[in-house]
Amino acid sequence: MQSDIGLIGLAVMGQNLALNIADHGFPITVYNRTTAKTDEFVAANRGTPGKLTGARTMAEFAASLRKPRKAVILVKAGGPTDAVIDELAAVFEPGDIIIDGGNALWTDTIRREKALKAKGLRFIGSGVSGGEEGARFGPSLMPGGDPAAWAELKPIWEAVAAKVDAATGAELTGAKPGKPIKGGVPCVAHIGADGAGHYVKMVHNGIEYGDMQMICEAYDLMRGLLGMTPDEIGAVFEEWNQGELNSFLIEITAKVLRQKDPETGAPLVDVILDTAGQKGTGKWTSANALDMGVAAPTIAEAVFARCLSAIKEERVAAAKSLRGPKPRMTGKVERAKVVAMIADALYCSKICSYAQGFQLMREAQKEHRWKLNFGEIAQIWRGGCIIRARFLQKITEAFDKKPRLANLLLDGHFKKTMRKAQKNWRKVIGLAVKHGIPVPTLGSALAYFDSYRTERLPQNLLQGQRDFFGAHTYERTDKPRGEFFHIDWPHPKRPQLKA
Ligand code: 6PG
Repeated sequence: MQSDIGLIGLAVMGQNLALNIADHGFPITVYNRTTAKTDEFVAANRGTPGKLTGARTMAEFAASLRKPRKAVILVKAGGPTDAVIDELAAVFEPGDIIIDGGNALWTDTIRREKALKAKGLRFIGSGVSGGEEGARFGPSLMPGGDPAAWAELKPIWEAVAAKVDAATGAELTGAKPGKPIKGGVPCVAHIGADGAGHYVKMVHNGIEYGDMQMICEAYDLMRGLLGMTPDEIGAVFEEWNQGELNSFLIEITAKVLRQKDPETGAPLVDVILDTAGQKGTGKWTSANALDMGVAAPTIAEAVFARCLSAIKEERVAAAKSLRGPKPRMTGKVERAKVVAMIADALYCSKICSYAQGFQLMREAQKEHRWKLNFGEIAQIWRGGCIIRARFLQKITEAFDKKPRLANLLLDGHFKKTMRKAQKNWRKVIGLAVKHGIPVPTLGSALAYFDSYRTERLPQNLLQGQRDFFGAHTYERTDKPRGEFFHIDWPHPKRPQLKA
């Protein structure tokens, strides 16, 4: 019997996605560069509802697939993906479909799609989010590429994706090996042509960076201002997870904070070195924001925060010579009040960060002529992915009401939230500044909010400066846009050169 689909790359994500596909009854052929890994994996997972077959060569892999063939690649993004595509292209036939499920740069996806099209092969770049657990029991999937190829992949992608309740958007959980979730709305949708899926996945990751850093700042404020222990802060996150901040990242933060170090028994978070790693998707998001001229400062600050964290030795040295205020609040401090203020600051900042992510996608769709459905994108992020959160439902509702909404901040629900919560947000930023606790994302989100709602920014002065030193011209408040002016500025006299 031939397999419905093939999968190349049996690292953690590949193994879990292969089992998820097999659990849904789709016969699948797997291939890994190291044959021993393939054999081991197949031997360890006999008896799945869809038969697992191991292939030892690419030719064997291709021969085992039903036509038009479909193969998912889950290898390291970049060179390794190109190498596997080349190998596949050598054994596949026109009409066959290659699906890249890695975290590819969307411009690579556009290039690959074009190159494969010239050979008659079809290509889908699909964002896959949710880590191991998601891949195994239901990821959020963001496929982009040829619509006809998508139609072929759709039954499998819809089956394996996470599911949410149609009415509430709440994720349906409880999938087990061999017992996938039935019913519900799958967290997958055809995002658009060529690189659209990988673009949206990249923005997802940029937002993920923002969310994580904002949570870290909230933790740092509770630690610094209030001197709370990791356990106490964990309890706060548990409580927050019951309300509007409910999300996967808040949930796991509580668990990380509660975790004890198996070696010392101390809170593990106190033992973990404060230097963040990164694989580049947040940087891509920020670089693309700069390239397109779209303001995404909160996402960029999240990347810079990781960069600053990484220069540990330099910071340790600087800490000895650069003095600042004491982090701890003194006097009569009402802890519960401050904690509630931090929750408001976190929620407001989160809204701004997502607003920036959606602004990016809006600009990118113009540039690449994609037709992105923002309400649907928020919906497929409701389940399975790392940024899954209750508040995404509000984003879906906002875009369903007004698909051309200029900015999330202008939606009725979010406007109301800002009205209610911004006082506390400002107080928190004030406290952070006063006590010298860095809040790059919470603070930049507030600056974004204030800039966006300001009718007249000080860039009038900036234009004056530009015209002064470089005759760069300016527009006038009393003339139509697009008319440019320049005056002869009274330049200071240059010293006369002696003849
Ligand atoms: C996901 C994640 C995942 C990403 C990790 C690590 O959606 O499942 O975004 O794709 O690789 O979160 O990213 P960093 O190593 O850059 O933090």
